[in-house]
Amino acid sequence: MWTPKSQTVKKRIKPLAHLLLLAPLAMLIVNALTNALGANPIENMTHTTGEWGLRLLLLTLCIGALCKIRSLKWTMHLRRMLGLYSAFYVLLHFLIYFVFDQSLSLKYVLEDITDRPYITVGFAALVILIPLSLTSPLAMRRLMGKHWNTLHRSVYLAGLLAIIHLMWIQKADFGEAWIYGGLFALILISRLRNKSTRSKRRPTPPGTPHRAHI
Ligand code: HEM
Repeated sequence: MWTPKSQTVKKRIKPLAHLLLLAPLAMLIVNALTNALGANPIENMTHTTGEWGLRLLLLTLCIGALCKIRSLKWTMHLRRMLGLYSAFYVLLHFLIYFVFDQSLSLKYVLEDITDRPYITVGFAALVILIPLSLTSPLAMRRLMGKHWNTLHRSVYLAGLLAIIHLMWIQKADFGEAWIYGGLFALILISRLRNKSTRSKRRPTPPGTPHRAHI
């Protein structure tokens, strides 16, 4: 199977990925400027940004599993980029809600966070994604050492909360939420299997404290 060299990833695949990842935003802007957002433009913008935030979050998590396949190892170079675009779309999703739904009122947002459980979990996912984005540069990774891994494992919690957020919104019409939820479950299973294979290969020396993370 063809596997690109890291120079090809850097010079060709990454620029192409930037274009693809910005395309949903570009479409949204074009549709907004041409009055093509449909009968409910705010709902359309909230839906589009939330949907892309979630898709890219799951794709970021998928890469952790895919890069275990030798010929797909190169996808690891795209993981940080995908994670950052996911956080970007989720932040836009929140800003659209904050500006258009809540008229820039922090008081209304806080009331919503306490009164509506789907907003509470969505907001919790956003709160997790922000420090992950801020600490994503390599320099931060070096500076934080092993704490970086511990912090970045919380991306799985953000994924879970995002799916609960979606299930809560879609209530009766669960179809899409179940597809995303199923994919998330597969990612978790693959992560746990990889972890158990690794620990079987490298038996823990006696006296080493057990760490119960994912
Ligand atoms: C990781 C974080 C988040 C993800 C992945 C996400 C994803 C989504 C998705 C996919 C939808 C569309 C559901 C549908 O129309 O069927 C949605 C709707 C919505 N989200 Fe989020 N969301 C996140 C965080 C937030 C936050 C932080 C807020 C606000 C505090 C928020 C507020 C809303 C609102 C108001 C809707 C529209 C609900 C409706 O149509 O009644 N979300 N979200």
